[in-house]
Amino acid sequence: MKIILLGAPGAGKGTQAQFISEHLNIPQISTGDMLRAAVANKSDLGLKAKDIMEKGELVPDDLILDLVKDRITENDCCNGFLFDGFPRTLDQATALKNRGVEIDCVIEIMVDDDEIVKRMSGRRVHSASGRTYHITHNPPKQEGLDDETSEALIQRPDDNEETVKKRLTIYHEQTYPLVEFYKNLSTNNKSCSYIEINGIGGIDDIQSQITANIEKLT
Ligand code: AP5
Repeated sequence: MKIILLGAPGAGKGTQAQFISEHLNIPQISTGDMLRAAVANKSDLGLKAKDIMEKGELVPDDLILDLVKDRITENDCCNGFLFDGFPRTLDQATALKNRGVEIDCVIEIMVDDDEIVKRMSGRRVHSASGRTYHITHNPPKQEGLDDETSEALIQRPDDNEETVKKRLTIYHEQTYPLVEFYKNLSTNNKSCSYIEINGIGGIDDIQSQITANIEKLT
């Protein structure tokens, strides 16, 4: 199954992507995690992306499309994949469609901006894996440490309030139009489902809602 997770920064895409990916045994393809790995490795892409990401802006479409184009041809994608944070502009979505990548399901996680700003200050991340926690809503077993590796968790440099607000503005301007794009695609092409999930509530409840909707499709 090929799935796109849509939603504002902090809506819970990464949190739910981990569950869906395990449940369906498909890889989670997070362009944000791939970019952060490139920044950590100081690769050409990382050097171009670092400042843009820290300012909360979007990395240019051509760089993102190069990254994704190669990733979806890898062996672990043969039974599908889950896009988390891609596509993020109409040009990215159109490029994906023009490459003939047929999406089975788009899941939109809906959370209002005020809740997002509150959530982001409590987010902690394991850099190497992208595993995400929240100091109160989803705490690690040991404070400040990743559950699987016991390595230190960090706060992302783009998670301060000012940058989060900027990311939300960019989301509404450049990414939200994808809601209409994929709703139209789903209306015109019955093999692509569009699922709306209320992202406010317990992480487990949201996971159950997503799982129930996906099971109706399989
Ligand atoms: P990216 O890493 O994709 O960030 P994002 O989309 O802004 O999303 P986040 O990872 O911030 O949030 P999320 O929805 O995954 O929420 P999470 O599950 O962590 O992108 C970063 C940057 O990379 C971009 O700004 C851009 O520069 C660049 N980039 C990436 N992709 C790009 C692309 N395609 N094109 C161009 N540029 C690109 O949850 C957030 C917090 O809330 C966590 O602490 C979590 O524990 C907690 N939480 C989750 N669910 C709940 C709940 N139900 N209740 C309470 N707390 C919850």
